[in-house]
Amino acid sequence: MVNPPVARASTILFETLADLDAAIRDPDAGLYYGRRGTQTHWALEDALTQLEPGAAGTKLFPSGVAAITTSLLAVLKAGDELLVTDSAYEPSRTFADHLLAPLGIAARYYDPRCGAGIVDVMSEKTRAILLESPGSLSFEIQDLPAITQVARARGITTIIDNTWATPLRLQPLALGVDISIQALTKYVAGHSDLLMGSATATPELWPRLKAATYRLGHHVGADDCALVLRGLRTLALRLDRHEQSALAIARWLESHPAVDRVWHPALPSHPDHALFKRDFAGATGLFAIVLKQGSRPHTAALIDGLRHFGIGFSWGGYESLVLPVELDRIRTATRTDLPGPIIRLSIGLEDVDDLIADLDAGLARYQAQF
Ligand SMILES: Cc1ncc(COP(=O)(O)O)c(C=O)c1O
Repeated sequence: MVNPPVARASTILFETLADLDAAIRDPDAGLYYGRRGTQTHWALEDALTQLEPGAAGTKLFPSGVAAITTSLLAVLKAGDELLVTDSAYEPSRTFADHLLAPLGIAARYYDPRCGAGIVDVMSEKTRAILLESPGSLSFEIQDLPAITQVARARGITTIIDNTWATPLRLQPLALGVDISIQALTKYVAGHSDLLMGSATATPELWPRLKAATYRLGHHVGADDCALVLRGLRTLALRLDRHEQSALAIARWLESHPAVDRVWHPALPSHPDHALFKRDFAGATGLFAIVLKQGSRPHTAALIDGLRHFGIGFSWGGYESLVLPVELDRIRTATRTDLPGPIIRLSIGLEDVDDLIADLDAGLARYQAQF
C-alpha cells in the first residue's frame, strides 16, 4: 500500500501479561490504547514533524483551537502571565480571557509590530508569548527572530499560530519559536470537510506538550487523519495556485478606485513587506482589502451577490470565501483608523479571471450606493 491503513482503535489487545507489562513500562513503544494513536495518526504526526526543522514531535487535536489551548496549558501555571499578539485569532483571545484568567493566568495584549520592543510589555511573571504572523484578519508580519531572541534570553516560551503560512512558507522553529501550531482544518486538509489541529515542538518543549495532550484527553479519528494525510500530498501544488491567484487578485484590487488599501504581505506596498521577504518562502491565499468609504451594512451590496465567493468563516479550502471584518470590536492594544469596512478574501482554486470578474461586479454594486 502507498498509504498507511486507516487503523481505528480504542482497545489494543496484548498476548500475554509480559507483553502488557512491557507496554506499561514504555507506552510509546507501540500500540497501547486508542488515545495514544495508531499507525495512521503517527504517519501524519511524523510527516508534520519532518516539515519543521528542529522539531522533536507533533501532536494532533480535534481542532486548531484545541491545539492552541493545549499548548498554552502545557506551559503556563497559576501566577504566570501570557503575552498575546493583538492580531491573534479571536478564540485564542477568548480562551485567555475566559478560561486562563480564572486559573490565575493573566493575559496582556501587545502590538504585533513591536519587534524587540516586546521587552517593554514583559514583566517578571511573563512565561509565554503567543504569536500569529501574519494575523489572519489584519495581516501584520511579526519580527519573529527579534521577539524570540528576547524571549529565549529570559526563558520565556514562544508559541505561534502558523496556520496562514503552513511549514511550506514559514518554518518558525528555525527562527527560534518553541511550539508551531496549525489549524490543519485550513490549507493542509484543504477541502473544507473536517477540523483538526497540530502542535509541533522543540526537543525542550516536546515532553510537556505530549503529556498535556494526553492528560487533557485529546484524540482525533483515524479516518480524519487519512483525509489530512491525503491533503498533505497536494499541499505544495495547491498553495502555489492559491498564492498565484491571490497575488493576481490583490494587484488588481490595489488599482481599483473603490479600494483604499490591500493587506497582503507579499505586495511591496504592505508595511511589513521587508520582514515578509526576509522570513517567508512565499505567500498563501488569504488577505484583506479596506474600502474607501461606507460601513458594514453597505457591504451587503458587494458580498450578497458574489457568485464564486461563499460567505463564511474559515479559509484555506478549495473554494473562495468572503468575510466582512470588524477589527475594533476585537482588539484592545492597537487601533487602526480606516476610511471604510474591511473585507477578507480567501482565494480558492477557481479560475482567476472568473474571480476577478465576480469582484469587479460586486465592487460596482458597492460603489453605486454612494
Ligand atoms: C488563524 C486561525 N487559527 C486557528 C483557527 C482555528 O481552527 P479550528 O477552526 O480548526 O479550530 C482558525 C480558524 O478559523 C484560524 O483562522
